[in-house]
Amino acid sequence: MKKMQIAIDGPASAGKSTVAKLVAKKLGYIYCDTGAMYRAVTWAALQKGIAVTDDLALAKLLQDFSLEFVPAEPEQKVLVNGQDVTKAIRMPEVANNVSAVAAQASVRTDLTQRQRDIAQTGGIVMDGRDIGTTVLPQAEVKIFLIASVAERALRRHKENLEKGIPSNLKILEDEIAQRDYKDSHREISPLVKAVDATEVDTTSLNIDEVVAVIMDLVAQKE
Ligand code: C5P
Repeated sequence: MKKMQIAIDGPASAGKSTVAKLVAKKLGYIYCDTGAMYRAVTWAALQKGIAVTDDLALAKLLQDFSLEFVPAEPEQKVLVNGQDVTKAIRMPEVANNVSAVAAQASVRTDLTQRQRDIAQTGGIVMDGRDIGTTVLPQAEVKIFLIASVAERALRRHKENLEKGIPSNLKILEDEIAQRDYKDSHREISPLVKAVDATEVDTTSLNIDEVVAVIMDLVAQKE
């Protein structure tokens, strides 16, 4: 069977990672969370006191920056230069600074190359903001997941509570709306639906229904 590239893009907390993981599992594909990569760079910049808009300093940081995904249950681990940052990259300080870091040219160029290397052999489900438009424009299946801000904030709130991360629904709504705005209005690779992507509104769909829509699209390409 053909080993495809599946791109899943969309705004914050639209359910991308949950469905991407399930689709990858069903197909025996690798799952790559590109948001975690931008978060990892943000975490490292904050640790080192680098300004999140300092493109040159971020470029320097990336010269000595190893990023690994290690399979683990219930979720894969993210290692930065060998250090486990899986939990740290989900903290509010990282979430509130990641869009600024992700708008820097040096960061986008570097991480886009790393993402293409990971996806090179196919058999990959990659989620993010610019996978279908910039990272893997040749992906066989492209999905653009959307949901209302209120629904997405509620999902992230429940997820945070389950993970023991402090959470406030109203603050989350504001943060998500702000992150959407910044991600959609940045100059380089803004969040936008690829012309050939299929838009799926997950507001009133459950996870299994979204996965089924994607598996149908995959089956049509096989
Ligand atoms: O997916 P997640 O919410 O973890 O992504 C965190 C942030 O990383 C996004 O808000 C966006 O600023 C950035 N990002 C990006 N391009 C990607 C994936 C994430 O700019 N492909």
